[in-house]
Amino acid sequence: MRIDILTVVPELLESPFKHSILKRAQDNGVVEIHVHNIRDFSTDKHRKVDDYAFSGGAGMVMTIQPIEDAINHLKSQRDYDEVIYTSPDGEVFNQRIANQCSLYKNIIILCGHYKGVDQRVRDYLITREISIGDYVLTGGEMAAAVMVDAIVRLIPGAMSDETSALTDSFQDNLLSPPVYTRPADYKGWKVPDVLLSGNDRQVDEWKEKQAWERTKRLRPDLLEGHE
Ligand code: ADE
Repeated sequence: MRIDILTVVPELLESPFKHSILKRAQDNGVVEIHVHNIRDFSTDKHRKVDDYAFSGGAGMVMTIQPIEDAINHLKSQRDYDEVIYTSPDGEVFNQRIANQCSLYKNIIILCGHYKGVDQRVRDYLITREISIGDYVLTGGEMAAAVMVDAIVRLIPGAMSDETSALTDSFQDNLLSPPVYTRPADYKGWKVPDVLLSGNDRQVDEWKEKQAWERTKRLRPDLLEGHE
């Protein structure tokens, strides 16, 4: 998979992809992540990428030209499954969307900034708008980082233990069961006996029950539509 991110603040995305699973996934050739500075595509002599909104109003608007040129430059080299725009107006990102995106070959993520992009970018160039939650960020870069993290870990080969992505919270619309590690008894705080029993069937049953109970208690909304 290849992910191209377009931003006016590339510095914000210098670090998030350079560590842990995301770094390994890139080192192993599972994914390529490229961050592009939209300013590099501006034809303005001051590399301007924004302008005042017609009819006034507070805040600057990202202009079409550098964005269209950046997208066209990328599209001239390969086909893209989706051109995503990060925006609080978009459909709210979740595990289902992460799964869907993890199957794509190439995607572009355009990070919104200032007051957002000229509406014509959204009308003519964007195929999908995604929000990471009902709150407003100063820009779409953090949203892009969150999405890329959630997507990349689902690509086969990204995780050393591939089954662990399948047992995540939300993968079956259930939260994960609790996990424990050594010591089995810390100052009287004990690990449930069943986990020390060595009985795989009982352990599996316990985990499933815990997952259901936890979901019912913490996120009953996830169970709507379940038996
Ligand atoms: N840009 C600003 N707020 C955002 C959000 N909640 N999700 C995605 N992009 C954003």
